[in-house]
Amino acid sequence: MNETTIVHYDVVDTIGVITIDNPPVNALGPGVREGIIDALEQGNADDGVQAFVLIGAGRNFIAGADIRQFGKTRPIGSVVSAAALDASSKPVVAAIHGYALGGGLEHALACHYRLAAPGAKVGLPEVTLGIVPGGGGTQRLTRLIGPEAALDMVVSGRHMGAAEALKLGLLDAIVDEPDLRGAAIRHARSIASARPLPRARDRQNWNEADTAPAVFEARRKALTRKSRHLKAPFKAVDCIEAAVRHSFDDGLAFEQQAFSELEQGAEAKGLRYAFFAEREAAKIPGVQASADLAPVASAAVIGAGTMGSGIAIAYADAGIPVKLLEISPDALERGKARVRDTYATRVKRGSLTQQAMDACLDRIGFVQRYEDIADCDAVVEAVFERMDVKHDVFSKLDAVMKPGALLLTNSSALDIDEIASATRRPQDVAGAHFFAPANVMKLCEVVRGNGTAPDTLLRTMKMGRAMGKVCAVAGSCDGFVANRSRAPMMSEMMIMLEEGATPQQIDRVMTDFGYPMGPFAVNDLSGLDVSYEGRKRRAEANPDYRKLHVPDRLVEMGRLGQKTGAGWYRYEPGDRTPHPDAAVLGVIGAVARELGTAQREFTDTEILHRVLLASVNEACKILEDGKAYRASDIDVMWLYGFGFPRHRGGLMFWADTVGAKDVHAQITEWAQRYGSRWTPSRLLGDIAASGSLLRDATGGTHQKATP
Ligand code: 3HC
Repeated sequence: MNETTIVHYDVVDTIGVITIDNPPVNALGPGVREGIIDALEQGNADDGVQAFVLIGAGRNFIAGADIRQFGKTRPIGSVVSAAALDASSKPVVAAIHGYALGGGLEHALACHYRLAAPGAKVGLPEVTLGIVPGGGGTQRLTRLIGPEAALDMVVSGRHMGAAEALKLGLLDAIVDEPDLRGAAIRHARSIASARPLPRARDRQNWNEADTAPAVFEARRKALTRKSRHLKAPFKAVDCIEAAVRHSFDDGLAFEQQAFSELEQGAEAKGLRYAFFAEREAAKIPGVQASADLAPVASAAVIGAGTMGSGIAIAYADAGIPVKLLEISPDALERGKARVRDTYATRVKRGSLTQQAMDACLDRIGFVQRYEDIADCDAVVEAVFERMDVKHDVFSKLDAVMKPGALLLTNSSALDIDEIASATRRPQDVAGAHFFAPANVMKLCEVVRGNGTAPDTLLRTMKMGRAMGKVCAVAGSCDGFVANRSRAPMMSEMMIMLEEGATPQQIDRVMTDFGYPMGPFAVNDLSGLDVSYEGRKRRAEANPDYRKLHVPDRLVEMGRLGQKTGAGWYRYEPGDRTPHPDAAVLGVIGAVARELGTAQREFTDTEILHRVLLASVNEACKILEDGKAYRASDIDVMWLYGFGFPRHRGGLMFWADTVGAKDVHAQITEWAQRYGSRWTPSRLLGDIAASGSLLRDATGGTHQKATP
């Protein structure tokens, strides 16, 4: 018996069982593919073996290629080990539980039979990593389930449940018994002598109409609308088209070529970085997560405004019962209506069934008394953003909530320790800063006060994950990390208007960069009034505050965005299309004249660099202040809180593509030209001088209690 530590081979009742045992997710790391090939060679040469089972140890079948190996030389790719499965003279049964993704599914597709546990999930998520499947996945899948279904799976990269996969013909059967391995061995014995071996490469599950050029053109057209900045989804369509136009071997060669072209590209690098940054953000330096952290099984939200209702919906969507508390009956009624409307819209759009809506609504209780929420495991306060109001809420929570309940604030700026001082349990208080709309945006910025206990942070993050959010930790400071790092970008956009740029030009530069919407159009959606009060407060508190005259004036004119039919753009009634508005240019011109600012032309690069580098500098200051653990956490916040284009990795990853040295030189020059708001961060200077990467920077007080 030849056994590596990560691929075990045993013979059980004439069946060669190949078990991938490469924790944590059975990725196809070094040695796994070789181990599969070795086991097949042994079994095929052994007269005592009639068939094989390929199965994963632990929680998954195989989660795909080892993403850390991309961009490095690999002795063999999945295409080789998949071909060995396919070519085995004895049948191979894949026994899938947990995830079979990417190269994992490709290996299953190369087996002759596929069984799965009911909870198994399959998918080819390669496009989400900026590549296409490289182990024959596009070719075998298309032949097995037809081009339309293959396009859907490969272009979206989505995970598919076992029941759907069975319906499509991707699986042969679902094994509804706990012993999947035993069932697979029995199945292998039952088909051991069946010939010819059913191979996906020999199938052709389509008719002529399914392969018409128009089918593929329609996909490309849809992608041009939604993903014009990306290469991988288009290549995926090309590969599937190649599957229906060419022989299996030629299609495979086409796929290999597409895979190698994409693997080293900027898109793949950015997306790989984003994948690991997201997982890194879940870790708190110096704090070990214990497996038995109490989960949040019930929650409460204080305040049924837009934010509070959104958070309650996010809980209900995640299957967590939640009570939405409002003292005023009118406000509670408005909250109820808001929640119902949100669900009704989803049902109308077809993204939710009536039954699912009813189940979600059943999970939301509407209450008016603090006593009614006392038993909840966590409470999120989402009331008016003023310290005295927060104190009032937290002292009430302190009085009623059961011991150990998480006391969370959705504040976007106020000091966590000061909020916690209204309680006798600061260790249980933290920020859970959701982004609007809270039921849609995936970021939850978990804010750590000086008094916050590590377990409180970990439980809050666990809760966020259970709600489908991506969590990253911030230290307590004005605007925390996400909004604080973004504020300079917003200011610089406005200041550039005074100097001659237009909202439409800046929006176009940012959408060309990859944002789904320009920042001015987004501002019209969220409302110009949202930041107006904050600016006034900051101007009163700080005589050096750089006033932003243009947006202030628009708000004072009643131009609050889409809700008033005009903001940075003009809107026709009932239509969300932004139209450039001469009135805005008039305001900009008037402000420029009053300030004596000369108007000039901007290049696209200057616009992009002015807005993003302002934020890069602030991000460095945040790290310098020790308010974030890692630069990559800031990237995660930009990806999930602000729609930063994922294929660009994140703010700091992008800045590395410019180069820390050039970033520093540019910021230094702008500090001379524009003054102290551009004073370069010391950390940025250090990084530029040392030649290290911005994205690898860590927070100054890493080991201390507060990030
Ligand atoms: N390669 C390397 N490491 C991986 C990995 C992979 N494919 N998948 C997961 N990991 C690591 C994570 O980085 C994490 O490591 P850490 O503990 O050190 O942070 C650990 O495994 C656990 O991962 P998650 O925290 O994500 O665990 P979950 O249980 O939440 O999710 C999962 C499991 C759904 C499998 C998720 O990890 C995932 O989506 N993985 C990526 C799957 C994928 O994209 N596969 C395709 C790869 S490309 C490919 O196969 C190319 C082929 O066509 C040739």
